[in-house]
Amino acid sequence: MFNKNVFGVDLGSSAVKIYSMKKNRMIIEHNMIAIRNGSQVIAVGNDAFEMYEKNPPEISVDRPIVNGKIADVDEVEMLLSLLLRKTDRSVGRKPQIYFSAPVNMSEIEKRAYYAISHTGNLGNPKVFLADRPICDAISLGIDIAKSRGSMILDIGAQSTEVSVLQNDQVIVSDPLPVGGQQLNESICNEVRREENLLIGRRTARRLKAVLASFEQSGIGEARKVTGIDTVSGLPREAVITSELVNRAVDAELRKGAEEIRIFLERTPPQVTRCITEEGIYLTGGTSRIPGIDRYLAHHIGCRINRSDDYEFSTVKGLEQIVQNKELKKWVYVMKDKP
Ligand SMILES: Nc1ncnc2c1ncn2[C@@H]1O[C@H](COP(=O)(O)OP(=O)(O)OP(=O)(O)O)[C@@H](O)[C@H]1O
Ligand SMILES: [Mg+2]
Repeated sequence: MFNKNVFGVDLGSSAVKIYSMKKNRMIIEHNMIAIRNGSQVIAVGNDAFEMYEKNPPEISVDRPIVNGKIADVDEVEMLLSLLLRKTDRSVGRKPQIYFSAPVNMSEIEKRAYYAISHTGNLGNPKVFLADRPICDAISLGIDIAKSRGSMILDIGAQSTEVSVLQNDQVIVSDPLPVGGQQLNESICNEVRREENLLIGRRTARRLKAVLASFEQSGIGEARKVTGIDTVSGLPREAVITSELVNRAVDAELRKGAEEIRIFLERTPPQVTRCITEEGIYLTGGTSRIPGIDRYLAHHIGCRINRSDDYEFSTVKGLEQIVQNKELKKWVYVMKDKP
């Protein structure tokens, strides 16, 4: 009988996205796990994020996925099995799990996908992997077979994955160290420098989401925050402007744009010509910043096509893969025992 216990899983550094075929739904939850006294899992996902930066010493709150890779097999296994059950209360027998994975993984990194699916209580699943840029390309509607040169920028939480596809394959997939977390860090530093105020990363993330903008209409906004005064050590309020936030965001993003511009200059001219004719595809959660497409077009010197799926691009590519037989050619199977 047709097995509908099929899941698509994108393990991101900031968020885990899961698609359930049976329920035909997607969930997104923070990449976070809260553990008491080193052994007892007390919360995962968004519930664990609520404890982040507020946790008492006996509770650790960690991100077990780092740079889009599995950093702690046991913790990711616990996170995954609890989140899969949140997507679909009964994961069912012999589920199939399709993971989006980085290109050029080592054998050890590949084995981690097998390990997280088999150490726990997931009913001996069959594990499939698909390259992340391929998942993105599918959801972006790129004709992979015909592409003579297509560039995708996936600006996530810890990195920007710069990928180039040509002649039915991924010819480049390199991470640049520019993502949402670096922007948050930059905002924390700028607030400290200009306002003598220490703010947490969650506050910086909130400031970024409401104030960062490269559109004219986004200028002149402000938000009140509470932090710790760097001189007195006491809590204090301050009003943070969109100008300050945009300065911090610009300082980080400009580095990334410059690297991509240089990368394009070094790419064979016939590939660069195709990329510039087609425009660079932009996706990932950080591409939600208003006007970032025009900002990058200006600094890279190439038209930008921004996806409307943002952080969901990769998991939406997986959704298409699990539903369409012809797209299965992009998937490779994890053997039962690596
Ligand atoms: N409205 C917004 N404005 C700016 N940034 C945003 C917005 N919404 C989400 N983000 C940022 O997007 C990032 C998450 O994007 P995404 O889910 O694509 O990353 P990820 O896949 O978890 O990480 P990575 O691809 O680096 O492993 C976070 O850093 C988050 O702060
Ligand atoms: Mg991602």
